[in-house]
Amino acid sequence: MSIKDTKIIKKDLDNLRNEINSLNYHYYVLDDPKATDHEYDVIFNKLITLEDLFPDLVTQDSPTQRVGAEPLDKFETVDHKQQMLSLNNVFHLKDLGLYMERIEKKLIIDSKKLQFSVEPKLDGLAINLLYIDGVLDIAATRGDGSKGENVTKNIKTIKSIPLKLLGNNIPTTIEIRGEVFISKEGFLSINSEDNEKKFANARNAAAGSLRQLDSKIAASRPLDAFFYAIGFSSEKLNVNTQTKILKNLAGWGFKTCHLNETVQGIDGCKKFYEKINSIREDIPYDIDGIVYKVDNLKYQQELGFVSRAPRWAIAHKFPAEEKITLIENVRFQVGRTGVLTPVANLKPVEVGGVIVRNATLHNMDEIRKKDIHIGDKVSIRRAGDVIPEIVNVVVKSKSRKKIILPKNCPCPLNSKIEKEKGMAFAKCKGAKDCPAQKKGAIIHYVSKKAMDIQGVGEKLINRLVDENILNNISDLYKLNNKILKDFVMNTAVREDSGKEYEITLGDKSIKNILDSINNKMEVKLSNFIFSLGIGEVGEVTANSLADKYKSIDNLSKADYNDILELKDIGPVAALNIFNFFNDKNNIKIINNILGNGLKFVKNRDKKTNILNNQTYVITGKLNNISRQKLGEHIISNGGNISNTVSKKIFALIVGSDPGSKLEKADKLGVKVIEAEDFFKILKL
Ligand code: IVH
Repeated sequence: MSIKDTKIIKKDLDNLRNEINSLNYHYYVLDDPKATDHEYDVIFNKLITLEDLFPDLVTQDSPTQRVGAEPLDKFETVDHKQQMLSLNNVFHLKDLGLYMERIEKKLIIDSKKLQFSVEPKLDGLAINLLYIDGVLDIAATRGDGSKGENVTKNIKTIKSIPLKLLGNNIPTTIEIRGEVFISKEGFLSINSEDNEKKFANARNAAAGSLRQLDSKIAASRPLDAFFYAIGFSSEKLNVNTQTKILKNLAGWGFKTCHLNETVQGIDGCKKFYEKINSIREDIPYDIDGIVYKVDNLKYQQELGFVSRAPRWAIAHKFPAEEKITLIENVRFQVGRTGVLTPVANLKPVEVGGVIVRNATLHNMDEIRKKDIHIGDKVSIRRAGDVIPEIVNVVVKSKSRKKIILPKNCPCPLNSKIEKEKGMAFAKCKGAKDCPAQKKGAIIHYVSKKAMDIQGVGEKLINRLVDENILNNISDLYKLNNKILKDFVMNTAVREDSGKEYEITLGDKSIKNILDSINNKMEVKLSNFIFSLGIGEVGEVTANSLADKYKSIDNLSKADYNDILELKDIGPVAALNIFNFFNDKNNIKIINNILGNGLKFVKNRDKKTNILNNQTYVITGKLNNISRQKLGEHIISNGGNISNTVSKKIFALIVGSDPGSKLEKADKLGVKVIEAEDFFKILKL
């Protein structure tokens, strides 16, 4: 082909791509279609045919590149050019007032005169898009703020995201930031599909879809995105406000949230908050608050950052959503240690984007305290992913029925239930033979904080216990292809006999189950001890036991008084541990597991003196660890804990949403350490 021919074809391809990009932009971003589906398909097919003929001329920004990539083995990690920050939160107007006072003081300006860009806080996942010469190069998740996962192939499937930027004045290299989400309608439609796994809410559905290794699956999910910020830019942009940044983003072809506004002072912010909160249910996607951003970029620069959040912005969160519904019945669930938990069956109700059917009633004392009866109308609350709970009774039904603790366990063994005096909890005394306890023990064993065997779900465990395939945790290691295939066949037979079984496993799912068990054959001793599900033995206790005894063998030979000597172990836990390891059956189960090849990796060394008597104050929310537990780690590494920030302390450790303690440390010039960095010092 002559150079001239190539030039002509390139031009044709260019025209087709521009036409399709423009049709996509009108359809997906502006919601203003300019062609019928048929017209669109004709142009698209033309492009496919031409690219098939000239594969060398396929470009990165061609609309044909939105789907069809080969599945990945794993996501690569990519560095963001500029760190992705998070936001501090306020929940109450009083705290919003204090925030305004703080920025007033820093800027020496009356905050009533200050302009704010006010934006709904989208409840999705933050994303960073890198464009080079106007073409989408890399899309990455937020990750730890400095580096995230490369999800470019999945992001390209989102048709409202431009593969090539529109308009002029585009910097050579620029990072664009926003939120990927799935609409409320999209979430309901994914969940109504026949998948075994249902998502808890739209945010989880978006996260699950964005993190698909197979971009064809991501392409089949209704992902969408709004954009609200610019990260790194190789050239200085000619803008002086956040409002103008949003305008620029729209000009380059991005979707920005149509509810964004620019307002003045705290009154403008409050008004916007009220307005959006009142229409929240009718907004087609989930939002969990409002973000107020000081509009003027010069002021933003003056205000700067504290820890990992800007001082120039604050998120004002909505209160947890509450709905009223009916308690239709109450059943009792038996956990791994035999504790009975009353669970209310509710008339299904949607709360914050999730259909709620059950709510925990905690224990009998709680039921009496809140005066809850079957037939009552109650208010249900759900915050984030937390299990829904009953706030209070709203209407007492005339025919309300008292909730009575059953005398016998709901499992087929019917063992006796006992409630010890002074204890809130009732327990099933049927011990190990109780199927409900067996299920609970295995579910606990595979859970994230225990052995983290993610491929084995709760439903499957319940079925395998019902079928007598799993009787205890060591039976997990006996599972093989044949057993699981037979199980599938047998459950099909049971289905015919009228019993309800929902599990269907294909060859791939069976392989996944077995792989997920095999992949977790190396574990920390502390995790294994925790996995055993001994009553009162949480993660901290399991850690202390692992530190002291160094091996399961030593622990199993320990005597009661020796265990009791450990600082964080009380008499009840000590007795539980002692009894557990003096039960031959438990030793047999553990030996079976070890016989199947489970190995221990070294537990981190504890009880150092690296903190050298320094005093720390902890503030803000921490990831994966409570403040109390971090305090225990500090003490066991030779440090001290205080509640008050003063010049005498060594440092303030900050998690997210730190509040007034951080302000005080700032004022006093006290050292501030990010919680994540501190975890690294303690090797947590
Ligand atoms: S601005 C420097 N604007 O909230 C500030 N964030 O809690 C960077 N979010 O990671 C964020 N809607 O995922 C900003 N209109 C909005 C937002 C928003 C949702 C998310 C974002 C961020 C998180 C912080």
